[in-house]
Amino acid sequence: MFYRLVLDLHSWIRWLVLLTLIFAVYRSFKGWITASEFKRTDRIARNLASITVRVQFVIGVLLYVISPITQYFISNIKQAWGIPQVAMFGWMHPVGMIIAIALISIGEVRSKKAADDHKKFTRVAIFYTIALVIIFLSIPWPFMSNVSRPLFRTF
Ligand code: HEM
Repeated sequence: MFYRLVLDLHSWIRWLVLLTLIFAVYRSFKGWITASEFKRTDRIARNLASITVRVQFVIGVLLYVISPITQYFISNIKQAWGIPQVAMFGWMHPVGMIIAIALISIGEVRSKKAADDHKKFTRVAIFYTIALVIIFLSIPWPFMSNVSRPLFRTF
């Protein structure tokens, strides 16, 4: 089933998003604190995290279109607003993630345009860290009572 395949993919790519983002944040703070040169690894880390979240964004939008939960949300918007699981995927999760992805894009562009290496690091560090926190809070973790989802999905 296509819906299940997209959901599984979206669920697994969350780990790639978190790994690449944590690595980019780690590199940016390291470079900032030690006043290093902005190296190839820093550029790859910054760009890779940005590409990964954009891929996840595209899959998320596709999921939004085909998911029975979001279809229910759209066609019963007044009642659905008060149902935690439906409201979570109908608007909270997408809105949080879109804000985070926008912050990552701004951080990436501003880092690329920065005149010196210090600014290249600080812009990634600030924008990506805020985005990481928002992403972390917007993920439906197993410990969230109303919107609990598994850590790993089996095919
Ligand atoms: C960094 C970006 C994102 C991450 C890390 C992320 C992560 C996740 C995770 C972990 C789930 C639970 C999957 C499961 O049940 O195993 C999920 C569900 C979902 N996500 Fe995302 N997501 C992101 C962006 C988006 C965006 C931008 C949209 C829509 C515009 C979106 C729409 C959805 C929907 C509709 C579901 C639930 C679908 C269903 O259960 O029927 N996501 N997301």
